[in-house]
Amino acid sequence: MAQWATIATLLVMETCELKTKIRAKITALGSFVPPRILSNFDLEKMVSTTNEWILERTGIRERHIADPGVAASDLAVEAVRDMVARHNVDLSMIEAIVVGTVTPDMMYPSTACLVQKKLAIPQAWGFDVSAGCSGFIYSLTVGAKLVESGAHKKVLVIGADVNSSMIDYTDRTTCIIFGDGAGAVLLEPAEDGEEAGMIDFIHQIEGYGGEYLKMPGGGSLHPATHETIDQKMHFVHQDGQQVFKYAVKKMAEVTERVLEKNGLTGTDVDCFISHQANKRIITATADRLKLPREKVIINIEDFGNTTAGTIPLAMKTAVDSGRLKKGDTLLIASVGAGFTSGASIIKWAF
Ligand code: UT7
Repeated sequence: MAQWATIATLLVMETCELKTKIRAKITALGSFVPPRILSNFDLEKMVSTTNEWILERTGIRERHIADPGVAASDLAVEAVRDMVARHNVDLSMIEAIVVGTVTPDMMYPSTACLVQKKLAIPQAWGFDVSAGCSGFIYSLTVGAKLVESGAHKKVLVIGADVNSSMIDYTDRTTCIIFGDGAGAVLLEPAEDGEEAGMIDFIHQIEGYGGEYLKMPGGGSLHPATHETIDQKMHFVHQDGQQVFKYAVKKMAEVTERVLEKNGLTGTDVDCFISHQANKRIITATADRLKLPREKVIINIEDFGNTTAGTIPLAMKTAVDSGRLKKGDTLLIASVGAGFTSGASIIKWAF
């Protein structure tokens, strides 16, 4: 009899657990860009280009560049401080730190470790995610899973890149695109029955694309030598047209797939935040989804492509301009080096 009672209790507990599936929601947001600005007019003096060409082909007017000695962890820390100031977050409660970056301060320790030390977060574990421009989206999914599994209640997710550290400022095809910046969000469990949080995602990698966008030197394949430096292997190398073609096709594909999977269409989306790589890629995707311009967040003009920083930076632009509000359905998407791609649907929580 007592045995049956125990089994019945276990079944009730299991049913309750099924009912109360945990959903992770974003409860706080901050960002940071270094103060120094590199405008198109500055670039005109450095390489053979014009303000008009850059604006027309990319939509970028200026980008922010870190001073020498300022690393990805420094931008990350400032983004977290901005988040704390805006949302009054208690950092001592953070349990895990996930950092999306392709410009870590160094090969190791991870940027997550450096952020933990600089912010003196006492109880956290964490790691970096290397996914190019999809670094933030992938980190957000990983962080959400840590919350949804019940393992953690407060997970810090950061996207931070100092692209200027690996840009050849004599190469006009890359130096006009990239900037430095970082953003941070806090993930926590949504309340029972609360209509907020991470709904779903679709992510994909296609490694054949690795050759079209890479920083080949400095890893175990090509450790730093005088030769790797002479051959400029520690700079970004990009076949812009190949990346552009792939990005236009893939951005449309992943956004359509994640919407379809959830029985949604573009009309259900209140706000669309794409990775900011090129204004033409963003508007092509928005047109494909039949999204009116007011639902599409574009801030590439002011920041350029900050790799893992673009999506949280654009989230802040969206919130501050009142275009992303509590209860809105937010669609985020990215395509980046790897190739990596991804799209996620989020019910915005504040
Ligand atoms: O976030 C990671 C993913 N990265 C991306 O998504 C970047 C994707 N690619 C792009 O955004 C574009 O391909 C670029 C902005 C990089 C280049 O724009 P494009 O319209 O694809 O230009 P293009 O490479 O087809 O070059 C057109 C012309 C060429 O001259 P010719 O051969 O027609 O005489 C280039 O040499 O423009 C020239 N060009 C420039 N002219 C002035 C290339 N860069 C510049 C420049 N200023 N900065």
